[in-house]
Amino acid sequence: MPEKKKIITIDGPSGVGKSTVSRKVAAATGFTYLDTGAMYRAFGLYLSRQKTDLNDALALRATLESLQLELIPAADERSDVRVLVNGEDVSEAIRTPEMAMIASRVSANPLVREILTKIQKRYGHDGKIVAEGRDTGTVVFPNAAHKFFLDAHPEERARRRVRQLGENGVEADFKQILAMTLERDDNDRNRAVAPLRQAEDALLIDTTGIDAEEVAKRIMRVVLNEAI
Ligand code: DC
Repeated sequence: MPEKKKIITIDGPSGVGKSTVSRKVAAATGFTYLDTGAMYRAFGLYLSRQKTDLNDALALRATLESLQLELIPAADERSDVRVLVNGEDVSEAIRTPEMAMIASRVSANPLVREILTKIQKRYGHDGKIVAEGRDTGTVVFPNAAHKFFLDAHPEERARRRVRQLGENGVEADFKQILAMTLERDDNDRNRAVAPLRQAEDALLIDTTGIDAEEVAKRIMRVVLNEAI
């Protein structure tokens, strides 16, 4: 069996609190936080700006070859990772509900996944990573030492999203966000390549009714107790 890597994966559907929890776990371990959703959002933004037809494999490959992605670690536990696309800071532009939907659609494309999975594996090469996303425990880092899958009721996830967007100055309607949450769940769980699912060796945490601080504490208890 391949040796397990010092990597913590935190997967789950949208609005489940993954980002907040991952940032806390990264701060507690001193590991680097890898926000894979931000990468799909950045690809989605670029492809939509370039008006690339996802079904045109040649055009898609050419567009993606002209894309330079850079991630700048968050300044502190409360901040998001900053994302540069060809030198332009798109950190704010990618964090809207519309970009989330576009990212979800674009992320079903096998070439997009192939390229991003490769980049993500490179980030994790030396371990010491907290990777957050949909497939980090199943596809990107199957040998991660510690895997978690967070879940919560859709209504609670939509409520959290509305609150989170509000904190970032984006006003959002609960019903609309709930509909988007359900649509994204459906896209992410039912796509052919690397669908959202719990890895067999991941620990499921239902975060309904518990705050991010408590979820992070539970994760840290497991990480510190697992002898690997
Ligand atoms: O985590 P997020 O909301 O920022 O992710 C945006 C979209 O990107 C999500 O709906 C599906 C896609 N995604 C993915 O397919 N695989 C990942 N590892 C992370 C995100």
